[in-house]
Amino acid sequence: MSQEYAKLVYNGKEVELPLVRGTMGEVALDISHLRKETGMVTIDPSFMNTASCYSKITFIDGEKGILCYRGIPIEKLVENTRFIETAYLLLHGKLPNVEQSDKFSNLLTENSLLHEDMRHFFDRFPRGSHPMSIMGTMQNAFSTFYSNVDSLSLKEAIDISAARIMSTFRTMAAFAYKRSIGEPVVYPRHDLPFCANFLNMMFDSPVRPYEINPNVVKILNSLLILHADHEQNCSTTAVRTVGSAQVNLYSTISAGIAALSGPLHGGANQAVIEMLQRIVRDGGNVKKYIDRAKDKNSSFRLMGFGHRVYKTYDPRARLIKKQCDDFLKQMSINDPLLDVAMQLEETALNDNYFIERNLYPNVDFYSGIIYRAMGIPENMFTVMFALARLPGWIAHWKEMIGSKTKITRPRQIYIGKTPKQN
Ligand code: ACO
Repeated sequence: MSQEYAKLVYNGKEVELPLVRGTMGEVALDISHLRKETGMVTIDPSFMNTASCYSKITFIDGEKGILCYRGIPIEKLVENTRFIETAYLLLHGKLPNVEQSDKFSNLLTENSLLHEDMRHFFDRFPRGSHPMSIMGTMQNAFSTFYSNVDSLSLKEAIDISAARIMSTFRTMAAFAYKRSIGEPVVYPRHDLPFCANFLNMMFDSPVRPYEINPNVVKILNSLLILHADHEQNCSTTAVRTVGSAQVNLYSTISAGIAALSGPLHGGANQAVIEMLQRIVRDGGNVKKYIDRAKDKNSSFRLMGFGHRVYKTYDPRARLIKKQCDDFLKQMSINDPLLDVAMQLEETALNDNYFIERNLYPNVDFYSGIIYRAMGIPENMFTVMFALARLPGWIAHWKEMIGSKTKITRPRQIYIGKTPKQN
C-alpha cells in the first residue's frame, strides 16, 4: 500500500503528515517531523489522543470491549492457561511448549527466595505502613542486592530477571502480610506451583496448617491473567518512561508499583471495597451514592467505574463479575458487598449521567469481593494487582529497550511569566 498522508495547512504553508496504520486498523498521524518542518509542537495533556509507542504486546478495542495479549483474547487465556504461561506469552510473544513451561516454572522456584538481609527490612517499616509502599521500596532496594539487567544482558537475562522479580515479589508480598499480622513468615516451597505457593505463604501457620483449595488456586490464576497487561496504562507508561533513561530494571519496576498504587489506577480495587463498606454502614442507600458521584460539587466518584479507553463494559470486569458470583457460591459465602455492588451497577447503568459518559464497571469493581472471599485483606488488593502486572511491565520494558527508543522527554507550552514581567 502506498504511503498515505494527512495535510496540515498553517500560515499559508502545507505540511504532509504520514499516516501509520496498526495491524488491527487503528490509524495515527506521525508527527515526529512536525517541529523540524514547522517549528510547532502538539499539545495533548494526559495523552488523551497520543500513541506513545509502537507495540506488539496487547491490543484493546475500547469501543467493542476486546482485550488480547499477543493476539489471543483474554477469554481464551483464562480458559486454557495458567498465569505463568500467560506471563511467558507476554514476555516472549508465544505460549510456552511443555519444556519451556517447565523451564520457566523451575526458574520461578529457584528464584523465589528473598535475600535474607532483605527480609530484615520488614522489621524497620512503621506499623500500619501500606503494603504497596513497602513493596515499592523493597523492589527499588533490589538493585543493591542483584546485578543489573540492561540491554546487553537482556537476551540471556530476561527469563531469570522476570522469574526473580515475579517470584520474589510474591514472596515479599506474603512476608509483608505475615509481618502486618504479627505471624512468622512462611518460606516458598519447591513442590508448589506459583499460585498455590503464594496462597500457602499467605495463609499457612505453625498452628493452623493451610489446606490448598483447587478452586481458590484456579480463581487466583484467572485474576492474575486478567490483570497481567493493559497496554499503555499509567503504570506501564511510568515503566517505559523511567526505563527509557536506562534506569536498572528493578528500580524501573518500582516506578510502575508507585504509579499503580494511586486510587485512580490500581489502588481503585481497595477504594471500591471501602466505598461498598461505607454504603453498607450507611444503611445501603445506593441512590444516595450514585447522586453524590454525579454531583460536580462533590469529589466523590463511583470507584471501579469508568475507564480512559473502554467506552463499553470492560471485558475483564465482565469475566470477573461472573467468576465472583460463581466463586462465592462455591465457597458458600454470602457477602452483602456483592449485593450492594450489583445494585450500584444496575442503578448506574440505567442512569443518564453514566449512560451519556459511557461509564461502566472496570476491572476493579468486582475483583476485591473475590479477594475478600479468598481471605486477602483490603490493603493487599493493589499488591495483588501489582503481582499480576509484573510480566506486562517487564514485557513492555523489554520491547522498549529492544526498539532503540530514545529517552522519553515531552515538550511543554510555557505559560508563566516572561523576563519582562519581572
Ligand atoms: N464516577 C463519577 N463520574 C465519573 C467517573 C466515576 N467513576 N469516572 C468518570 N466520571 C465522569 C467525569 O467526572 C467526567 O465528567 P464530565 O465530562 O462531566 O467532566 C467524565 O466522566 C469523564 O471522566 P474523566 O475523569 O475525564 O475520564 P478519564 O479518562 O480522565 O478518567 C478514570 C478515567 C480515572 C478511570 C475515571 O473514570 C475514574 O476516576 N474512575 C474511578 C476510579 C477507578 O475506578 N479507577 C480504576 C480505573 S481501571 C485501572 O486503572 C486499573
